[in-house]
Amino acid sequence: TNVLNLMSAIYTGTFVSSCIYKAAGDKVVISFDDAKLQEDNELRWTHNKQRVYLKKGSQIKLNKLNVSEDGSLILENVQKDKSGQYKGIIYDAEGKLRKETVQQLCVLEPVPEPIVLVECVEKGVNLTCSAVNNDEVVVSWMKNGTKANVTHAVLHISSSELKPGDNFSCTVSNPISKNSAKNVEPVCSDTDLSEKRFLFGSDLWWMLVILTGGGSFLLILFIICLVCVCCCCRRNKRKAKRTSSVNYFQIHL
Ligand SMILES: *[C@@H]1O[C@H](CO)[C@@H](O)[C@H](O)[C@H]1NC(C)=O
Ligand SMILES: *[C@@H]1O[C@H](CO)[C@@H](O)[C@H](O)[C@H]1NC(C)=O
Repeated sequence: TNVLNLMSAIYTGTFVSSCIYKAAGDKVVISFDDAKLQEDNELRWTHNKQRVYLKKGSQIKLNKLNVSEDGSLILENVQKDKSGQYKGIIYDAEGKLRKETVQQLCVLEPVPEPIVLVECVEKGVNLTCSAVNNDEVVVSWMKNGTKANVTHAVLHISSSELKPGDNFSCTVSNPISKNSAKNVEPVCSDTDLSEKRFLFGSDLWWMLVILTGGGSFLLILFIICLVCVCCCCRRNKRKAKRTSSVNYFQIHL
């Protein structure tokens, strides 16, 4: 177990708790724990390997960032671009290394208030916790005030698990903040009901097709009749005219 403890300590030391998590807008002080900066010391600070501060004795040669009297780096109103590795070194007057510190800073935005989106699906309901696309965000779900064993952004509840009045909420959190959604009470008609509604819907659809189809069929029939009648009328008239003229001709011949 000692080896295991050591391994987990190394693991947490280098990967998990190595980051100092801060919210955007915070004031951050990065210090050499116990060492005190002496008058004649040399002090260097780098951020992501870029030199940001250099002081030799009383001479300040570079100060892109503020440094307090004891040598600590002061970051007021810290923003995401200040994330990363900070390294500070103190040398004594003879140029011998006195103290060195390396710290990882992670600046995060607070998570917004999530919303539970309800989607009735075929055999239940899908609940989606919004605002989960940020990095380092963890989701948890509550059903009727009790924590559910789900950490996905989507919670699927089958219709057999869903009782009337069941309420759900999700909580999103990152290392610096936590926010919960308002409770929702999903209402989905169960599968039988929705099948019935579907059938009724399709019945209605067919009725519409038949009605409009039948109506237009009748209309077309009526138009055809009208055209026929007209044609017949005209032809009869013309025939009558022709016969009468022929008769006239014959008479005059
Ligand atoms: C949560 O779910 C996992 C598997 O998905 C299971 O191993 C574990 O026992 C569950 N925990 C609880 C408290 O139900
Ligand atoms: C509902 O959730 C389940 C389980 O997460 C998933 O398999 C399914 O695709 C989802 N359905 C829809 C319509 O999003």
